Amino acid sequence: PETGCLSIVVLGASGDLAKKKTFPALFNLFRQGFLQPNEVHIFGYARTNISDAELRDRIRGHLVKGKAASSDLSEDLSNFLQLIKYVSGPYDSEDGFSRLDKEISGHEISRNSKEGTSRRLFYLALPPSVYPPVCKMIKQCCMNKSDLGGWTRVIVEKPFGKDLGSSEDLSAQLGVLFNEQQLYRIDHYLGKELVQNLLVLRFANRFFLPLWNRDNIDNIQIVFREDFGTEGRGGYFDEYGIIRDIIQNHLLQVLCLVAMEKPVSLTPEHIRDEKVKVLRSVLPIKMEEVVLGQYQGYKDDPTVPDNSNTPTFATVVLHIHNERWEGVPFIMKAGKALNSRKAEIRVQFKDVPGDIFKSKKQGRNEFVIRLQPLEAMYMKLTVKKPGLEMATIQSELDLSYGQRYQGFTIPEAYERLILDTIRGDQQHFVRRDELKVAWEIFTPLLHKIDEGGLEPIPYETGSRGPKEADELLAKSGYVQTHGYQYEASDFK
Ligand code: BG6
Repeated sequence: PETGCLSIVVLGASGDLAKKKTFPALFNLFRQGFLQPNEVHIFGYARTNISDAELRDRIRGHLVKGKAASSDLSEDLSNFLQLIKYVSGPYDSEDGFSRLDKEISGHEISRNSKEGTSRRLFYLALPPSVYPPVCKMIKQCCMNKSDLGGWTRVIVEKPFGKDLGSSEDLSAQLGVLFNEQQLYRIDHYLGKELVQNLLVLRFANRFFLPLWNRDNIDNIQIVFREDFGTEGRGGYFDEYGIIRDIIQNHLLQVLCLVAMEKPVSLTPEHIRDEKVKVLRSVLPIKMEEVVLGQYQGYKDDPTVPDNSNTPTFATVVLHIHNERWEGVPFIMKAGKALNSRKAEIRVQFKDVPGDIFKSKKQGRNEFVIRLQPLEAMYMKLTVKKPGLEMATIQSELDLSYGQRYQGFTIPEAYERLILDTIRGDQQHFVRRDELKVAWEIFTPLLHKIDEGGLEPIPYETGSRGPKEADELLAKSGYVQTHGYQYEASDFK
């Protein structure tokens, strides 16, 4: 691994994302020894005029949340907080960014007295409207010092625009400042353990190779459910809606990994080439294969307009026009304020041809990958019900991570993705052309919704969503297994 000076700059340091995700991820990396105190310095930058100590105070509580307070934690905590320096300034002024550069350079000089590098990582925990000015300032004032070598990398996160046009605009603005090797577009679903596992699962197991296609699979669901509403983010959410918030990015990324062909190798570009390829095979969305919903009470949020037609729930069926998948619906479903919280991939197999057990069966074979909570994979299969009778029952082969990997801690998505950025591995980041195709798929539908051409159906908070969505599911071929319930085992 590279050594030498590493400066991590969190822009928007006093904001929500930084406090809840970025700093806790950095802290975890620090605790595990990935950020060496003799190499790393962390800079917070934001407009608010506060001191180093005040920033540290704001962050502290978020770092220990959920963790048992132990004495080694408090030592780690104070060592970590000592690494953080705060610089305040506007997002579009050379003055602020020159001061930031001075701070970074000062640190590099003191650490690089003999030899070393200038590695600079900028994490934009900011709304995308300020990405262009901030990137311009970084480019003008804060690039790594070429005589020391090293690199400058910039992490950005969605929303990357609102549709194809605005996203391309943003890409073009950033593209004149930084090349693809310098830009890291986070989709935090790509940092989840079971999403990262998809590649291994599909291409390292003989089991799946002959089955993973239209000859055997009837339909695939990719589902995101939350059992809470927009909670204080109503104003932001209303601008975007559930398709932009979850489906066009997180679920579509999962679809890529489920559906793509085997990459030539594990190099990031080979993997991303395959993702782009499968996205290009997605057919235009048919309006009759879309159901939108909005939970009752969504508009009670004072930051949401009374006449909002923003969907908080959507089911959208995608079709992939290629040899492997023609005729297999990919049912993308996401909703807020539903009856449960989970994200899963559900691969449902076709019926057994000439089935002699048909009348006795509870349901079809299904392979379920539970991304969260309680990570698991299980295969639903029919077995003989134990006993004297020749009866059948649906059971499962179950790989529950909590049980199988006791004592392992599954890393947080952001932790992994920041580490990848430091290591220069872009495999789990979204490439520009990939982002463009993702927008091409959803933009016609989004425009139609924005124009008021498609109204969300009201649904009760804490329900399954509109019943029309279940009807669409059935129409797409999904067969529900009645009387079967999977119990996740959690030994954590
Ligand atoms: C974010 C969305 O990208 O993902 C949120 O903006 C959503 O609306 C969140 O709640 C879900 O992430 P996770 O990791 O909790 O599934």
